Amino acid sequence: MTDTLTIAVSKGRILKETLPLLAATGITPAEDPNESRKLILPTNQSNVRLVVIRATDVPTYVQFGAADLGVVGKDVLMEFEGRGLYELLDLKISRCRMMVAEPRALAEQDDPEDWRHLRIATKYVNTTRRHFAAKGIQTEIIKLYGSMELAPLVGLADRIVDLVDTGNTLRANGLVEIEQIADISSRLVANKAAMRMKYDAIRAMVEQLRGAVKGSAERAA
Ligand code: ATP
Ligand code: PRP
Repeated sequence: MTDTLTIAVSKGRILKETLPLLAATGITPAEDPNESRKLILPTNQSNVRLVVIRATDVPTYVQFGAADLGVVGKDVLMEFEGRGLYELLDLKISRCRMMVAEPRALAEQDDPEDWRHLRIATKYVNTTRRHFAAKGIQTEIIKLYGSMELAPLVGLADRIVDLVDTGNTLRANGLVEIEQIADISSRLVANKAAMRMKYDAIRAMVEQLRGAVKGSAERAA
């Protein structure tokens, strides 16, 4: 008998970009995820179901084995303090970069080489602290849960650490990128125990998804 696999995916951008990859492996939700209010979505394959949760909760569900697999941004993984996750595959979706940004006026006379102490607003507290600690720069970090771009405009912080894709949000708020922390994309992660107990099913899923990622990269080229 085939093991049942529960895959945790976050609503919004990641779900939207994961569905075509799953479809390429022959998995489609039994109901339209955009219409359905269900949090557990059965699929056309009786041994595969999706759980739809907040992005930052995906590693937790996988860590505790409530989901066998998860699709989660590298930004969230870098910030996650739990253990017991394997990163199996770069799905190359929801791509962006994690950047330090600041007001254009500050950037015109700023030199990152001179940074000694920074006041930064971000939702990526651990990653930001680690990044600057490695460079011997002290940080005062103000934790926010969204709209980081507002912080320098109202004097809450001098700089922010946030995700940037097109750069439109920064531009619209008079901010510029000044330093890159990481390239971000979504990863397939597994629970370590599930990896042992459901090895064949997980292995098969990873290989199918690897093919789907490759196919989508070839179509985009
Ligand atoms: P939560 O619901 O937990 O607050 P969120 O609002 O950050 O999470 P999304 O905005 O859907 O959720 O982002 C999910 C993931 O998509 C992020 O973790 C990141 O990896 C990626 N991402 C975020 N912003 C962008 C963007 N502008 N372009 C591409 N990918 C992005
Ligand atoms: C993300 C990120 C930036 C924006 C960057 O926010 O936090 O604000 O995207 O993308 P851009 O460079 O293409 O403008 P998102 O749109 O996910 O909104 P939220 O996280 O505040 O919900």
